[in-house]
Amino acid sequence: MLKLRMAFKYLLPVVVLYWSLETVTSDPSHSPRPNVIFILADDLGHNDVSNIGREHGSAIQTPHIDRLAEGGVRLDKYYVQPICTPTRSQLLSGRYQIHTGLQHGTINAAQPNCLPLDEVTLPQKLKEKGYATHMVGKWHLGFYKAACMPTERGFDSYFGYLTGSENYYFHNRSYTVNGKYIRGYDLRDNKTPAFQYKGQYSTHLFTQKTIDVINTHDKSKPFFLYLAFQAVHLPLEVPLKYKEPYANISELNRRTYAGMVTCMDEGIGNITQALKKTGLYNNTIIIFSSDNGGPVHVGANNWPLRGCKATLWEGGVRGVGFVHSPLFPPSVTGRINREFIHVSDWLPTIVTGIAGGSLNGTKPLDGFNVWDSISGMEPSPRKELLHNLDPLVVAPDVESDDGGRGRIPGRFNTSLRAALRVGDWKIQTGTGEKNEIPSPPGNFWKPPPESGLPAIYPVQKPNQKVWLFNITADPLERNDLSDKYPDVVEMLLCRLQNYYEDSVPPRFPPSDMNADPAKHGGFWGPWE
Ligand SMILES: *[C@@H]1O[C@H](CO)[C@@H](O)[C@H](O)[C@H]1NC(C)=O
Ligand SMILES: *[C@@H]1O[C@H](CO)[C@@H](O)[C@H](O)[C@H]1NC(C)=O
Ligand SMILES: *[C@@H]1O[C@H](CO)[C@@H](O)[C@H](O)[C@H]1NC(C)=O
Ligand SMILES: *[C@@H]1O[C@H](CO)[C@@H](O)[C@H](O)[C@H]1NC(C)=O
Ligand SMILES: *[C@@H]1O[C@H](CO)[C@@H](O)[C@H](O)[C@H]1NC(C)=O
Repeated sequence: MLKLRMAFKYLLPVVVLYWSLETVTSDPSHSPRPNVIFILADDLGHNDVSNIGREHGSAIQTPHIDRLAEGGVRLDKYYVQPICTPTRSQLLSGRYQIHTGLQHGTINAAQPNCLPLDEVTLPQKLKEKGYATHMVGKWHLGFYKAACMPTERGFDSYFGYLTGSENYYFHNRSYTVNGKYIRGYDLRDNKTPAFQYKGQYSTHLFTQKTIDVINTHDKSKPFFLYLAFQAVHLPLEVPLKYKEPYANISELNRRTYAGMVTCMDEGIGNITQALKKTGLYNNTIIIFSSDNGGPVHVGANNWPLRGCKATLWEGGVRGVGFVHSPLFPPSVTGRINREFIHVSDWLPTIVTGIAGGSLNGTKPLDGFNVWDSISGMEPSPRKELLHNLDPLVVAPDVESDDGGRGRIPGRFNTSLRAALRVGDWKIQTGTGEKNEIPSPPGNFWKPPPESGLPAIYPVQKPNQKVWLFNITADPLERNDLSDKYPDVVEMLLCRLQNYYEDSVPPRFPPSDMNADPAKHGGFWGPWE
């Protein structure tokens, strides 16, 4: 056991060193640099785009996404984080949450917290390479101080909202904080609160703002455009006409949700058309990603994967992703890429692989430059992935009365909520459930309602706290192998303990009533 642990400790730095040398020496200096548009969908399930879902009983139609995906490179083994803030933090920093203190939950509107200000962000690095940088849509990386706002974190321009789950038409959001009901409007043009869009459905609005950025772009520079759609997160709201094609889906949540996906798909079609009209398409790379698995209790679907949003099962973390570009050679176009890729890989991939920049000034990254795996046929440098390790979610422990904390020094406490992939193996510890309690179960397999298939519930040992799967052989997590391979479990627990020892304490401060929008002209915004 010790030997294995040492091997991990010494092997990892070697891998990292090799990788950084590679990226320095392979810095391409072709010009002009390609434009990059990164489209992030919110709460889109793995089975909710038709190029995947048509094989799994889903009725949702996404013709524009399909055209881009099927005419680009589909990322089949693509992973994201199980909820919003974590994925966004890893996208913009290239670092795991255990290294930024964001391992627990999302950043709530009234929490004095944000992506740590000493993290160097993806748009900051791209500005160094002469990129114009723009963001449209959902931020969700904290805003308590002016220094946390998107325009202070590397974006030249920003149009969007700072919190989550707001009304799609009114752009307002309420919360009960410390027993008090507080609410406010949440939409900004750069730093300025913007009232005039009240009544405009956000998918239309964010699509239009993205097209405006494209139409007014100064072509002497490349651009990076980060579009974080509100769609298709709760609340379930969409103009009627988008629901019409789904009139025969009897579950109302699913019907509305399907309409929301189709509206977003139409927006992506409009944006692609704008790129073509302006002539920018020829030199643009379009990256599409979901931010987490689908919340299956409110319309989304991940079938046949197990689990849902906010769980560490594959249905919570295996994302929908593709990269489309006319710059790809024909040998690459249309491929399904089966390399191991994670959302933390985008920062090094875009900065070095696409923009030809260097990673100077960043903290030690957890992401890898996977550009050669996407645009060529190289194997992914990623062999391992910490899905998360959240020390603030502790399973009730039947063996000890201390809540499971600190039982055996130096040994990983399996009551903590964590999941790790090493090669084919995946270990999960804790309850196997969502971190919000009470909540409906999240550890099962739910088919799309329109398929008429029944859900499948797992048989679980009482108080089970460790699961082991061979994900390559068993991507649906049906056969728990933890009893069969105790040595593998031990090895992976050692690795988790290494990560635990290497993590910073979670930042999850109590809410601050000074956040109340009533104190800030009715808007959610910085209060410190
Ligand atoms: C948002 O505004 C609308 C219209 O003024 C109102 O009906 C609704 O209750 C508000 N919602 C929230 C969450 O504040
Ligand atoms: C529902 O409608 C769609 C599109 O009109 C059609 O393809 C599908 O077969 C219908 N499904 C059922 C169960 O009627
Ligand atoms: C896409 O463009 C069409 C035509 O201009 C427009 O009617 C539609 O509302 C747009 N869709 C979105 C989602 O912006
Ligand atoms: C885009 O590339 C194609 C093929 O090389 C070319 O025919 C077309 O004129 C280009 N369009 C623009 C707007 O540059
Ligand atoms: C990286 O190096 C460039 C060129 O020396 C410099 O302008 C830039 O500020 C550095 N970036 C960081 C984040 O240190």
